[in-house]
Amino acid sequence: MAKYLVTGAAGFIGRSIAAALLARGETVRGVDSFITGKRENLAGLEGMEFVEGDLANPVVCGTVCDGVEVIFHEAALASVPRSVADPIGTNVNCVDATLNLLVAARSAGVRRVIYAGSSSAYGDTPTLPKHEQMTPSPISPYAVAKLAGEHYMRSFWRVYGLETVVLRYFNVFGPYQDPNSHYSGVLAVFCRKMLAGEQPTIYGDGEQSRDFTFIENVVHANLLAAAAPREKVAGQVMNAATGSRITLNDTFRTLCGVTGYRGEPAYAAPRAGDIRDSLADIGLARDLMGYTPQVNFEEGLRRTVAWYRQVEERQSATPTSVM
Ligand code: UD1
Repeated sequence: MAKYLVTGAAGFIGRSIAAALLARGETVRGVDSFITGKRENLAGLEGMEFVEGDLANPVVCGTVCDGVEVIFHEAALASVPRSVADPIGTNVNCVDATLNLLVAARSAGVRRVIYAGSSSAYGDTPTLPKHEQMTPSPISPYAVAKLAGEHYMRSFWRVYGLETVVLRYFNVFGPYQDPNSHYSGVLAVFCRKMLAGEQPTIYGDGEQSRDFTFIENVVHANLLAAAAPREKVAGQVMNAATGSRITLNDTFRTLCGVTGYRGEPAYAAPRAGDIRDSLADIGLARDLMGYTPQVNFEEGLRRTVAWYRQVEERQSATPTSVM
């Protein structure tokens, strides 16, 4: 019987949390529908009990919650532009799925649910850094859907006493992030392209900034959220980030150094639904659960590029494999 459930376990963040739990010798169940998750991301997670299924189906939620004590809810359609193209799909996979999971978690007697919130909930408010007391102002359908999930989390804590913890992730990057989708995060796309000698495209003038957060920091925040006492974290919403930011132009220059890419970026029109600047105040996570970032941006970027380089080398050695 698994103690921990990771939803979206074949996705970038879910598989990273599952790997950390397995490394600690925990019993883990993972669920994924493979809408965006990848089967190859399950490599290395052989110790995990895996269920293929869609949380939009309440029966699947009931099955995966059985016997579990703590859930890391990472499954989502994580993309602003995808939600602009398909708001209903985003709602089904982010909002309906989250509510189904909470209902099932409550009836199965799950103790705690940790939820992958998004910095996009803050929207384009000029105040920096973003802190949790600010009124959310979501712009994209994705941001609205992730925020709706947060509200359900807090409601299930207040109404039913299910311990819920929301971690608002800020632009997470690192190994296993899919670089090939039209909807991939910018660092994954840039790493893949620049390693292959292809020109990356910057949408807008490149002076937009982000609090890019290396995956290990997010995994660390999740493990702390699982272990923290109920009085500290139940019903809370906390930023999970680094507390520093960098523009896309500077990111590109840093990546040139790490990848050896020698060209210039292309510039294209800004993307609909984009926000300009993003920077987290990480004081609350520090105060409530002792969170501090473990890996800084440059080191995270070096490790990420090293990982994509390794994948590329493996692929060119075995041309039939796909990432
Ligand atoms: C947003 C959310 C983040 C969420 C993520 C899911 C904010 C601040 N962040 O990230 O919490 O997890 O969605 O996808 O709202 N860009 C390029 N070239 C590319 C790709 C992207 O210039 O090839 C630009 C985008 O226009 C954007 C920036 O890079 O300005 C970051 O884009 P992306 O990585 O998609 O993340 P956000 O939309 O910031």
